[in-house]
Amino acid sequence: MPKKLLFVCLGNICRSPAAEGIMNHLIEQANLQAEIRCESAGTGDYHLGELPDTRMRQAAKQQGIILQSQARQFQASDFEDFDLILAMDRQNYYNICALDPPDHYQAKVQMICDFCTQHPDQEVPDPYFGGQDGFQYVLDLLNDACQGLLLSITDADHTPGYSLP
Ligand code: 4NP
Repeated sequence: MPKKLLFVCLGNICRSPAAEGIMNHLIEQANLQAEIRCESAGTGDYHLGELPDTRMRQAAKQQGIILQSQARQFQASDFEDFDLILAMDRQNYYNICALDPPDHYQAKVQMICDFCTQHPDQEVPDPYFGGQDGFQYVLDLLNDACQGLLLSITDADHTPGYSLP
């Protein structure tokens, strides 16, 4: 059974689709498609069914990454369906955990920036209301985080984070 990762932001049209696309790219490069699967979701319901934001799609395309997910909202059943749930910022983290009042799945919910090795950021900034630079920065940050995440999954000795059982 492949390990399933779910990237979560607010709208599921900027940060989490980018994380999904970058992680899938790294997984393909490492030929790990049979071992790891990725999806994304948003805590909000403002953009359900939409493709990722044009500005994010454009920035990702320049790195050879095509983003083609459709926005959907995070739901409580995702706690069971995924092995690891990666929040882009603290607000997303709290909103995800609020759907799990018994804290039964708390260990599955982690902050994506905890996997960064090159950036000191603790959150992926929301680029939606800013300029094109913000989208590029999100991609740089997520490249760093996703590389650390992949290492964490494939290398049981690597810390911090999560490893395949
Ligand atoms: P995301 O960005 O959470 O990275 O997808 C946003 C997208 C839409 C909105 C906010 C953030 N919005 O307010 O509609």
